Amino acid sequence: MKIAVVGATGLVGQKMLNVLAEQKPAAEAVVLAAASPRSAGRQVNYDGGRLVVLPLDQCLATRPDIALFAAGGEVALAWTEKFAKAGTFVIDNSSTWRMHTNVPLVVPEINAHTLSSQTHIIANPNCSTIQLVMALAPLHARYRIRRVVVSTYQSVTGSGMKGVEQLLAEENGIKATGKAYPHPIHRNVLPHGGAFDETGYTTEEQKLVNETRKIMGDDQMQITATVVRVPVMGGHSEAVNVEFINDFEIAEVHRLLQQMPGVVVYDHPAEAVYPMPLYAEGKDEVFVGRIRRDFSQPNSLNMWVVSDNLRKGAATNAVQIAKRLIEQGLVKNV
Ligand SMILES: NC(=O)c1ccc[n+]([C@@H]2O[C@H](COP(=O)([O-])OP(=O)(O)OC[C@H]3O[C@@H](n4cnc5c(N)ncnc54)[C@H](OP(=O)(O)O)[C@@H]3O)[C@@H](O)[C@H]2O)c1
Repeated sequence: MKIAVVGATGLVGQKMLNVLAEQKPAAEAVVLAAASPRSAGRQVNYDGGRLVVLPLDQCLATRPDIALFAAGGEVALAWTEKFAKAGTFVIDNSSTWRMHTNVPLVVPEINAHTLSSQTHIIANPNCSTIQLVMALAPLHARYRIRRVVVSTYQSVTGSGMKGVEQLLAEENGIKATGKAYPHPIHRNVLPHGGAFDETGYTTEEQKLVNETRKIMGDDQMQITATVVRVPVMGGHSEAVNVEFINDFEIAEVHRLLQQMPGVVVYDHPAEAVYPMPLYAEGKDEVFVGRIRRDFSQPNSLNMWVVSDNLRKGAATNAVQIAKRLIEQGLVKNV
């Protein structure tokens, strides 16, 4: 079994190598690292050793069984189909394939049943979508969601190395080499993620709407989003307001969320216990707290959802998909 990480020098790719080393989705798997021609020949850490970074053509020539892509949309567009044609199962972290009808968009705890041996390109959802649907899915199954209003507080790690470098440079009063944002992010909050469209929404906001509907299998679900970038490193936070068709008991909401694999309820506000990105960093779970009834309208709830966008929001989810492909016997050695 050969598993390649494409974009192995980036923020998500590095986490993928960490998660692969921790979780070992297949015994004896050989892990390969690939990135741009700039990095070819460099070495990256993996499981106590070092891997030489391959250029993409050499990586493809090894015909990996699974390739975890974390190299952005352009690379996905240019290379994912070539890998898939060679028989590789591609799990792509960019938005390139997410809304294609025949491409499964997978959060394994929710819709692993959409994986099949026929579909060699699988899309990993956007980081802010993954943590949102993890908290919504068990509640939707029980009460049926009518409408969701979500406001995000997103970590600079969601913008890759450039975002982290800009914040660190500004914190230290030095000039960043490349800028991830059109304004300073240190001591600031930007209501801007991705590009604006003619309706005034951003691409990141549209992803939250469209991807949530696709994963939850409900085209009618009403969702509106405001994406905000904050000068934080450890993970994304989301203030989520949900209106259900059916009413609920708060105690049962707690129970349903506690029973959801991968979700941790962290909700003792009187003791100042609630999820925060500082403590979510490096963890795989989605943390939910501040769970309370919205008294302004019937059947409505507020909650606060936090997760490390580089772990469950990207690398962990992708490795979980790889594990499912292997466990379900869908990957036959190429
Ligand atoms: N950050 C997040 O929270 C997050 C969450 C979900 C999904 N994603 C998605 O994951 C992808 C990677 O994000 P990131 O945050 O890890 O970005 P990043 O830190 O900027 O890393 C980008 C990676 O892509 C590689 N790359 C760039 N151009 C390439 C080329 N022409 N051929 C091969 N490799 C190339 C880079 O290699 P070099 O070092 O050689 O340039 C680097 O390894 C993006 O599609 C992003 O949207 C990110």
